[in-house]
Amino acid sequence: MSSDTPGFEAALGRARALTEELSGRAFSSPDSAAHEALLDAMRYALSGGKALRAFLALESARLHGQDEAAAAQAAFAVECIHAYSLIHDDLPCMDDDDLRRGKPTVHRKWDEATAVLAGDALQAAAFEALCHPSLGARAVPLIRRLAEASGHGGMVGGQMMDIAAESAESPLTVQGIEAVQRRKTGALIRWSASAGAVMAGEEAEPLLRYGAALGLAFQIADDILDVEGDAAVTGKAVNKDAEAGKATFVSLLGLDAAKHRAAGLVDEACEALSRYGDDAESLREAARFVISREK
Ligand code: IPE
Ligand code: IPE
Ligand code: MG
Ligand code: MG
Ligand code: MG
Repeated sequence: MSSDTPGFEAALGRARALTEELSGRAFSSPDSAAHEALLDAMRYALSGGKALRAFLALESARLHGQDEAAAAQAAFAVECIHAYSLIHDDLPCMDDDDLRRGKPTVHRKWDEATAVLAGDALQAAAFEALCHPSLGARAVPLIRRLAEASGHGGMVGGQMMDIAAESAESPLTVQGIEAVQRRKTGALIRWSASAGAVMAGEEAEPLLRYGAALGLAFQIADDILDVEGDAAVTGKAVNKDAEAGKATFVSLLGLDAAKHRAAGLVDEACEALSRYGDDAESLREAARFVISREK
């Protein structure tokens, strides 16, 4: 590892601190009690996560020589979209969860209307962050790609397929689940991992390949944690997927094969980084972390 390459833990901590800092700055000037409640809910939803997506955006920007101020806006933007997706994912009409990041979900702490609106406002805030002057013309491809990664062909589309599968006549096949995952979780992770190359106007293919393998490994690990995890550690309810009758990588492959598949994907993710040499060591560590994490 070269001396100016930060270790993974430190870099992830920095991504978390940066997300908190920009959240405090962006969402802290209420002009009424209702506005204050909305901003409180938005900051609440942004806090306490791993900030993996912010980390990926910051690291890919560093690898492509992008300045930190611009990279920070990209990192913040994707955490806003992610936080919005989680608020809505937890709603009674979706997964109906009471616990997120070890705290009551937004609709439990406030109410459903506040949760829907805080999610909506976080989505808008993400695109506002990408319009920050520090990004200049680099914003345009980032905005286009984030819209694609978030919308019907990305996260929202994947959520729709995921919900539809719960009541489908026949359970999803492994290929079907992979198609859901590519949109539901994969699209935002691919966006994050490729953000630096996109900002630089350089070849994004290796980072997109890394992000695709990482994203799939990440969702397999999420499904494994739902079975093997401890809610006191994961900070969210466990055994939800089986309760909902959801086909997951674990229900289809079994635990051992799911773990084996995830480990193979980590190797694939690391191989995609070969052109970056030692400089990409924290991204390799991130790939290993994704399948060994306990939350
Ligand atoms: C959880 O994402 C939801 C999925 C996309 C599977 P994370 O595990 O990254 O959640 P936080 O941000 O750390 O809470
Ligand atoms: C949600 O997937 C993914 C998104 C929010 C897009 P899950 O429903 O499996 O996530 P958790 O387990 O509630 O975090
Ligand atoms: Mg869900
Ligand atoms: Mg959920
Ligand atoms: Mg899950």
